[in-house]
Amino acid sequence: MTDLTHSVDADRALKAKHRAMWASGNYPELASDLISSLGPVLVEAVGVRQGDRVLDIAAGSGNASIPAALAGGTVIASDLTPELFDEGRRQAAERGVELEWREADAEALPFADGEFDVVISCIGVMFAPHHRVAADELLRVCRQGGRIGLLSWTPGGFVGQMLATMKPYAAAPPPGAEPPPLWGDERHVRALLGDRVNGVELTTGTVTIDRFATPDEFRQYFASHYGPTIAAYRNVGDDPERTAALDADLVALAERYDQGSDGGLVLEWEYLLLTARR
Ligand SMILES: C[S@@+](CC[C@H](N)C(=O)[O-])C[C@H]1O[C@@H](n2cnc3c(N)ncnc32)[C@H](O)[C@@H]1O
Repeated sequence: MTDLTHSVDADRALKAKHRAMWASGNYPELASDLISSLGPVLVEAVGVRQGDRVLDIAAGSGNASIPAALAGGTVIASDLTPELFDEGRRQAAERGVELEWREADAEALPFADGEFDVVISCIGVMFAPHHRVAADELLRVCRQGGRIGLLSWTPGGFVGQMLATMKPYAAAPPPGAEPPPLWGDERHVRALLGDRVNGVELTTGTVTIDRFATPDEFRQYFASHYGPTIAAYRNVGDDPERTAALDADLVALAERYDQGSDGGLVLEWEYLLLTARR
């Protein structure tokens, strides 16, 4: 076997694992329950207009794609995990818009150079393991003068810290895979895009999560709904002490970030929003 065949096979296996992870639990329900405000925030910031050809990368069940279609875009919602599209199709039909759903790896997009006026990703492309490859792809498919919009969890924000908390319990990532929240680090994302974009605007924002009564309710919800949390629990599943330690670390994380004063859990999840012109 050549080195090239080996790395192609290894990448295919890694992506199959990622797909299975995101298909586990119930990501579409989580997106609707917790972060449905983020898609419209991204679409508004990047300014989708009537007739724009829009690509949403790592679109999931259409959190940003559906608002982009509602704003008049001709939208392709692409994702590694087509299991998420059924709920997206249902939501799109309910809201009276049509879009195309396409299985695609962010690191090897099946689209032509310059095919889109607008390329967006809402807490999505950040989960592709090779950041430079994914950045090159999203820039390649955006036409000169087109717009890029990326919304990513920050490393120091709640979700960045949740991913860091789970990391010691999860299977070790393969060499070369980079941590997702680096896309939410201003210097890292500027370096990824480099001088291939101009007019970069960066803002941070937060989404308020107040639907959990207690830190343990948050933990249980993630353990049943969120692929990366499910994967971490599966990885330590035959070790009761490690499982209890993961329980305790997730509860401690929610306690640390809790801003609620009247008993309920209130979390502010921080993100970095980037817009730029190709
Ligand atoms: C946190 S979800 C975000 C989904 C959606 N954009 C949203 O706002 O709800 C992350 C998404 O990234 C997708 N994903 C992970 N790795 C990917 C890759 N290499 N290429 C394309 N999509 C990927 C997952 O399938 C999942 O749908």
